[in-house]
Amino acid sequence: MTAVRPDLAPQQAVPATASFPAGFLWGAATAAYQVEGAATENGRTPSIWDTFSHTPGKVLGGDTGDVAADHVHRYRDDVALMKRLGLKAYRFSVSWSRVQPTGRGPAVERGLDFYRNLVDELLAAGITPVATLYHWDLPQDLEDAGGWPERATAERFGDYAAIVARALGDRVGMWTTLNEPWCSAFLGYGSGVHAPGRTEPAAALRAAHHLNLAHGRATEALRANLPAAAQTSVTLNLHQVRPLTDSAGDADAARRIDAVGNRIFTGPMLDGVYPADLLADTERLVNWSELVRDDDLASISAPMDVLGINYYTPTIVSTPADGAGDTRNDGHGSSDHSPWPGSEHVAFHLAEGRPVTAMNWSVKPEGLYDLLMDVSRAHPHLPLMVTENGAAFEDAPDAEGRVHDPDRIAYLHGHLDAVRRAAADGADVRGYFLWSLMDNFEWGYGYSKRFGAVYVDYETQRRTPKSSAHWYSEVIARHALPP
Ligand code: NOJ
Repeated sequence: MTAVRPDLAPQQAVPATASFPAGFLWGAATAAYQVEGAATENGRTPSIWDTFSHTPGKVLGGDTGDVAADHVHRYRDDVALMKRLGLKAYRFSVSWSRVQPTGRGPAVERGLDFYRNLVDELLAAGITPVATLYHWDLPQDLEDAGGWPERATAERFGDYAAIVARALGDRVGMWTTLNEPWCSAFLGYGSGVHAPGRTEPAAALRAAHHLNLAHGRATEALRANLPAAAQTSVTLNLHQVRPLTDSAGDADAARRIDAVGNRIFTGPMLDGVYPADLLADTERLVNWSELVRDDDLASISAPMDVLGINYYTPTIVSTPADGAGDTRNDGHGSSDHSPWPGSEHVAFHLAEGRPVTAMNWSVKPEGLYDLLMDVSRAHPHLPLMVTENGAAFEDAPDAEGRVHDPDRIAYLHGHLDAVRRAAADGADVRGYFLWSLMDNFEWGYGYSKRFGAVYVDYETQRRTPKSSAHWYSEVIARHALPP
């Protein structure tokens, strides 16, 4: 019998019943402002989310991220918990304000130390760290200088990316530049339901371009400062857009939302060009030829190794017959202002006959299957990673202190099966990150919405894995869904 050469042996022992690809990475995600707390420690100064959450009326219940899940002080226990649950990867974000408080100048070493320690703890536990450079918390000083609508912010982001890459590059191999830049641009500067709370459609479009440029600058900085084997990516909340009916009006509504919701990022990042229909839809708001400078697109389309996709719910749209438009159910918080510049006259709908989560988001796992298949057909050589998927429900401990969340288990089961099917049908999906590891600060909804697989009692900071956490542990251990 011929011995198998070690370099040809399978990378990982996979049980015979495995329904996920070999090497598929199982993780959970959080983000700095949502879990860290320690808002004023070691020289950290406010980000736009500190300012926004401390502004009365902006966040439900007046909640802030001052303490959040106290992850900065409890990261050792949190990593131990991840290890007990069998997680193979942890996706976290770096707080720019903790590392470079004003968004410019030298790094604060004690701020970086938190991430060095967190990563060391993860590695010692056998958990792969996946670092996101930006999850919505711009240093307030940079917003005071104009924020994302200003080009200089993108250049500052490139500098910051280089700092973090130099500090963590010897121990972090998977990097993401931005998380959901759509939200930063259009909820932050369009509808104003997110920090910094501005309602200026033209500024939102300018922000989108500068976030694209920031992704390009950061990708270049990562490449220049990381070992060759390191992987770079961006995470997009690609809207899985479908027209309500097959009318021409609804098809046009879907095209518009796809343009300003998806292609405004995938166009320049993956194809090196802004879509012509987007430019036409928004030309009354922005002079694109002035905004986009000569070499911008070359920088923005710097190759990435993986595309991160966040998916929660489908986006079903129509053009109302009276043309009035209605954005009440667009799933992005309530505001008198639209987060969809150039596409205001569009109505958003729940998926008929489907359950909804505590966010009033329709549960439709096939949307994730379709999304993965669509993206992989359009970009066949680009590996994909589901960097967020999960649901908020009204979780509460029972008399024994246990938290049963069968709805979340059903949600995860349906969506993981969609991922498995997409992989079986040819999509190159490399992993899945549950949102979220633990309950946390859900932006404009504060602590009222719980997305965690682990319940957090904010009075005591006690963590209690919900039944979904135990269920997910089993899926990871089997590398397969239960029958
Ligand atoms: C996407 C965001 O990245 C995350 O921060 C947020 O908590 C979840 N969606 C749920 O809304």
